[in-house]
Amino acid sequence: MHSVLLALLSVFVLYLLQTLLEFRRAIHSVGHLPGPRLLFNPAWFLGQVIRRALPPIRYVSRGPSWMLRKGYQDFAAAGKDAIALVNVLPTSKTTIFLADAAAIKEVTTSRARFPKPVHLYSVLSVFGSNIVASEGEEWKRYRTIVAPAFSERNTRLVWDETSRIMFDLFDNVWGDSPEIVLDHCVDITLPIALFVIGVAGFGRRVTWTSDLIIPPGHQMTFKDALHILSANLILKISLPKWAMNLTEHTRKINLAFTEMKKWWMPGEARRQKKSVTICLVDFWTRHSDDPDGGVAITEQELIGNTFIFLLAGHETTAHTLCFSFALLALYPDEQERLYQQIKGIMTELNGIPTYSDMNLFTLSLAVLYETLRMFPAAPSVPKHAAEDTSLTVDNADGGKTTFPVPSGTEVQLHLPALHYHPKYWKDPHTFRPERFLGEYPRDAFLPFSAGARACLGRRFFETESIAVITMMMSKYRVEIKEEPEFHW
Ligand code: HEM
Repeated sequence: MHSVLLALLSVFVLYLLQTLLEFRRAIHSVGHLPGPRLLFNPAWFLGQVIRRALPPIRYVSRGPSWMLRKGYQDFAAAGKDAIALVNVLPTSKTTIFLADAAAIKEVTTSRARFPKPVHLYSVLSVFGSNIVASEGEEWKRYRTIVAPAFSERNTRLVWDETSRIMFDLFDNVWGDSPEIVLDHCVDITLPIALFVIGVAGFGRRVTWTSDLIIPPGHQMTFKDALHILSANLILKISLPKWAMNLTEHTRKINLAFTEMKKWWMPGEARRQKKSVTICLVDFWTRHSDDPDGGVAITEQELIGNTFIFLLAGHETTAHTLCFSFALLALYPDEQERLYQQIKGIMTELNGIPTYSDMNLFTLSLAVLYETLRMFPAAPSVPKHAAEDTSLTVDNADGGKTTFPVPSGTEVQLHLPALHYHPKYWKDPHTFRPERFLGEYPRDAFLPFSAGARACLGRRFFETESIAVITMMMSKYRVEIKEEPEFHW
């Protein structure tokens, strides 16, 4: 018995020694870059979704939204614009975070050397492989099919449809009320973004008050299915199939998903379409049932890609708009400046602005950019090294550090650190939209990523959001709701 225990203990000690040696080797492999060290990577056995919910625990977890909370702090402490997160277990999982504009540019423009680590996106492929979660030839095929959907003509339609949705809200929902009180501004920005993607993605015009009748062959209205699914996407993605049948709520989500799939189907998408505007589903379906053009897409890919447009196309926009309104409420002087510009232009136009007038609203776009600088909707962009290579970053003392990046190392573009870097941005913690009116450090502003894998929907977002901000601010002043619990 005694000798068995001794043998087990020896094995354990050997394992411990080997792990510590590997840990040291991992730190050495990235040139001893400073940065956080964790005992283990919680995502390793808890999964990405649960890891994100963990509170900050020393040597175990950095806590939810740690990148946004920390901004440039970790890099300032390290004295250089690259840090490495090294885990004791598993040591193979070393992540380098970058806050150096030039190094980031090198990574985003070297697609073969730093491709997208598609394994990190597996959660986004639950409905089928798609443009966001793919690489190489597969990604090229998707991009070739869908890029034309983002043409100038279709962007004009995004403006027109957004204006229609805003006026529908003002005229038929808010009416003459002098004051509108919302518990959370996402209650309004989420439906707006959903309605726009409903038209753009599915060719279905949804209004605030109509669409109440369930069409034949369906058990839910399009609006309800879209809303329920999008509000519960994370649940649908993270729970196993059997668990989705356990409660009434999860069964409703399942039903919404089945309903949406019906609209995603080629024939249905066409039959149900009421208004033909820009329809992303059309672009996919054209290639699914008519592959003569040479680029074909399967039904599973059609569903996967439509899902990704639904997700990419509305959550980011809705939350960015919400942050913009909150910042404008917190900075009334900036709000007044924006209002004066909008009022001036509208008086001169003597009518409702059209898509051709969009570029006049420079402050509306600046407000959106400043919001995305402070609260980037996707705080990090992951890449990985496809070969043994190296990168060079700036040090706080004016020097430079070149460090090795072994093949397989994860490299994360740390957007909050880049966006709050005092070298690129004066008073980075202050909301100052005017910084985007003149020249600004473009390589240090990366909310849409950059290079070949940059956001395909950037213009779509800008068009929709300029229309929303401009029309909202031309009619309403935004203030923070008085809530006694927030009085100190
Ligand atoms: C605030 C608004 C938005 C932000 C901040 C944003 C940000 C991003 C970022 C950072 C990426 C790169 C992701 C990665 O490398 O993993 C990306 C990719 C993408 N985005 Fe957006 N996005 C926004 C709005 C939209 C909209 C409105 C659409 C569509 C209607 C869209 C469609 C896409 C697509 C299709 C890709 C993948 C492009 C590719 O890999 O070829 N995005 N977006």
